[in-house]
Amino acid sequence: MWYAHLRSVLGTEADRYEIVSVAESGASGPRVVILRDISSGKMYALKYGETRVPIFQQVRNCQTMVSLFGERYIPEIFISGEKVMLMEAISGQTFHEAVIKSLYDLPSLVEAYKKILEKFGEVWKKTAEPFSSTVSLARQPIPRAERVREAVFRRVFDGQNLREIAGNKVVINEVETGYSLDFLLELMTDRYSSPNYTTLCHGDPNMDNIIIDSDMDWWLIDFEWVGRHDWRIPASHFVGWWLSNASFLKEASRIKVGNDTICIKYQIGQSELVSALLAEAWKFMENMGNFFKEKQFEQQIKLQLAILLLGDLRFLEARNRSQYAIPLLGEGLRLLTEIVSLS
Ligand SMILES: Nc1ncnc2c1ncn2[C@@H]1O[C@H](COP(=O)(O)OP(=O)(O)O)[C@@H](O)[C@H]1O
Ligand SMILES: [Mg+2]
Repeated sequence: MWYAHLRSVLGTEADRYEIVSVAESGASGPRVVILRDISSGKMYALKYGETRVPIFQQVRNCQTMVSLFGERYIPEIFISGEKVMLMEAISGQTFHEAVIKSLYDLPSLVEAYKKILEKFGEVWKKTAEPFSSTVSLARQPIPRAERVREAVFRRVFDGQNLREIAGNKVVINEVETGYSLDFLLELMTDRYSSPNYTTLCHGDPNMDNIIIDSDMDWWLIDFEWVGRHDWRIPASHFVGWWLSNASFLKEASRIKVGNDTICIKYQIGQSELVSALLAEAWKFMENMGNFFKEKQFEQQIKLQLAILLLGDLRFLEARNRSQYAIPLLGEGLRLLTEIVSLS
């Protein structure tokens, strides 16, 4: 498959490449393989297949990223076609892998995370523009929240489709929230308020979109969602990624549906390293909230975090984390109960 794509842009030159490995792909659809040019020994990453954002747009986005972060942080793209792009392969691991496998010591990884956050902060400050309703955002907050709500409603727990029991009251770890599932999920759109500023940046700063090497040098990849953003959405990724993808279950979780209740029970925890990264991410978000003078900052960031966690229900299978569906639902809904009192 990769060969046909490479051949579509390189012709017979494609014969010079051999496959080295297949990268673990995100959830978006395209595939990435690492190739070696047999004659020069140089390594390349080939991304190909169906993408949500057309490749030509991603190439343009990559250029935008170079102008924002500097060449040093972005792999070079050499060739692109309609459904394929060939870029410099970065030798290293995704930041996620480095953390999950504890490839480096805690202080080094925390220090690297701080530098990454700092750099994002710089770019956000540099590109900030007062919010205007006419600006076109790369990710539309309200439609995104609506899509997430629909995806949550499609899930089946305890033999029941969530849409069918949307009126049931949510109980989380034996605490009655007093709110129905429907009410809580509506908050994702109803309580959204526009940010004071938008920023131009990478819109999907997931930890599998950052590559780090043993010198703690790092690069950003995956340029699908580069554009102008409600900065609180990408900000929520820096916390949400770890909650969603690096928490562990302390005990088996379960959901019991009663006549008018939905009882969610789960216990999750994080490693010392992940807790330290989470603390840095929260600090960073607070700093940015203060900088942008966001009055309802805590409410709005929790709103985006809830949307992220509930939205990640869609990617559990792709990420091999099916057993985390209940904690994700529980944590997402718990955050939504918190924003009620933060209005
Ligand atoms: N330039 C690159 N160098 C090294 N590895 C890469 C490169 N680009 C992508 N990868 C690997 O492929 C994975 C998927 O690539 P990505 O562009 O994030 O696609 P997706 O849209 O599937 O998330 C990354 O998480 C990373 O492991
Ligand atoms: Mg990715």
